Amino acid sequence: MEDNDNKKRIWYLSDGNPTQEERIKEYDHFCSTYEQVFKEEGWQSPYVCADTVGSYIRDNRDKVEILDLGVGTGLVGERLHHLGFRTFDGIDPSHGMLTLAEKKHIYRNLYCQLFTSKPTNIKEGTYDAICISGAFGKGDIPEDSVYEMIRLGKPGCILCFVGRTVAFELLLPLLETLEKTKQLKKEEITETQRYRKNVAGLIIVYRIIKD
Ligand SMILES: C[S@@+](CC[C@H](N)C(=O)[O-])C[C@H]1O[C@@H](n2cnc3c(N)ncnc32)[C@H](O)[C@@H]1O
Repeated sequence: MEDNDNKKRIWYLSDGNPTQEERIKEYDHFCSTYEQVFKEEGWQSPYVCADTVGSYIRDNRDKVEILDLGVGTGLVGERLHHLGFRTFDGIDPSHGMLTLAEKKHIYRNLYCQLFTSKPTNIKEGTYDAICISGAFGKGDIPEDSVYEMIRLGKPGCILCFVGRTVAFELLLPLLETLEKTKQLKKEEITETQRYRKNVAGLIIVYRIIKD
């Protein structure tokens, strides 16, 4: 794939069904131009995601702990920092993307790994919010990882997903089931035109319930 063939690259990552290995390799290759390319594509998802977290957490922003899944180059963190949040961790399997996030010097911990249903080494009940921008479903972060998110959240922790509607086809019924079993409470499911130029998305927010 040619370096300047950006539209093809975005299509490949969003709809081309690459294997996990191919996807990580592509992000590693793409990372140095990712922010420029996505800016040209009207990429608003990370800002929508951070702003949504901000709309639920208005007080003591410097004290809350946030996990940014599929952190990429750290665009969500940049906005969170601008909003007054100070403590956030990120997870991403692409070493190249993480290197760029690291250079922003705003993340507390960055973990180079896939986030799946498999328990991480992070302590149970660490976070006040867990957010994901443009990194869920369709070969990225899998639906059953919600169980690990629940383990990592404090009681009342906000789960905030922003992505293309198609990415959440399998997640939405699972979230409904988890609401029925009183592990989650729905806060909002809102359509947004601010995902990417000419691409609508969904903002999904649930709250973790723990006794
Ligand atoms: C489109 S980028 C989004 C990056 C950033 N969140 C943003 O909004 O700009 C998707 C990111 O998800 C990461 N990713 C894919 N599968 C993942 C998984 N299972 N766990 C964690 N990150 C994953 C990719 O490596 C890539 O950096």
